Amino acid sequence: MVCRLISGPEVSEEIYGELRTRIEKLKSEGFVPGLAVVLVGEDPASQVYVRMKGKKCEELGMHSETIVMPADITEEELLKKIDDLNKDASIHGFLVQLPLPKHIDEDKVIEAIDPMKDVDGFHPVNVGRMLIGKPGFLPATPAGVQQMLIRSGIETAGKHVVVVGRSNIVGKPMAALMIQRGLGADSTVSIVHSKTANLAEITKQADILIVAIGKPRFITGDMVKDGAVVIDVGTNRIDDPTHPKGSRLVGDVDFENVKDKTAAITPVPGGVGPMTICMLMANAVQAAENFKNLL
Ligand code: GUN
Repeated sequence: MVCRLISGPEVSEEIYGELRTRIEKLKSEGFVPGLAVVLVGEDPASQVYVRMKGKKCEELGMHSETIVMPADITEEELLKKIDDLNKDASIHGFLVQLPLPKHIDEDKVIEAIDPMKDVDGFHPVNVGRMLIGKPGFLPATPAGVQQMLIRSGIETAGKHVVVVGRSNIVGKPMAALMIQRGLGADSTVSIVHSKTANLAEITKQADILIVAIGKPRFITGDMVKDGAVVIDVGTNRIDDPTHPKGSRLVGDVDFENVKDKTAAITPVPGGVGPMTICMLMANAVQAAENFKNLL
């Protein structure tokens, strides 16, 4: 089997090109799309993500605000900040970086965000709209995977998609997207997870295998059908003394063991990773367009 690599950097650059055109149009009409990111505390991984989001906004010529709050703020103070952002006309979309400190109720925070500004697509209103196939903000990572499939010319209609993992931010919404009617969907969907019996028997039936279980190199060649398309959402840092940093990133798929069986596969790094920020930016541009159309 000659396998094809699906490149996240390539697909995301194609989308950024389209976003630049939409941003130029908005700016020519007097609207500068504005995205705010709220970071609570000093989690190093969150700091990296938040910095990358701000940098990408600036690169695209969007208005960007990063609001850093100390780890010991009260839930009430955070809810007040959200209320301010809901009312701020220069901010069309915003998100609160997760995870939050233990004393703050994440669900309460997400539900305080105006669904019209919820560019993460985590508010129950947007989750519900996605499930019933109505317009709303889609969560960035599953939406990014769907764009990779569409833009790589991979047929999804009538195909058996097996999603490995059932998180609220990837597995569940991924399955919800693939069962919808329309382009990049119309699939038959199974979800498997840590409690599934005979998991490999089901993954072996996948025409398209989407893996987001958070376990390094969990999927091996014997779990994949010949000619399948494999999308690896995992990013796991593992120790590797031969690497200059002493560690390296691997996916949830054992890439070397699986790749020769597949028709197409995403590498890690270089696969799904860049799609998440890209689709967040797409949601922010959409938020600004929605705002303009309401005036
Ligand atoms: N933490 C990890 N991924 C995400 C994300 O997509 N959005 C937010 N808000 N926090 C995250």
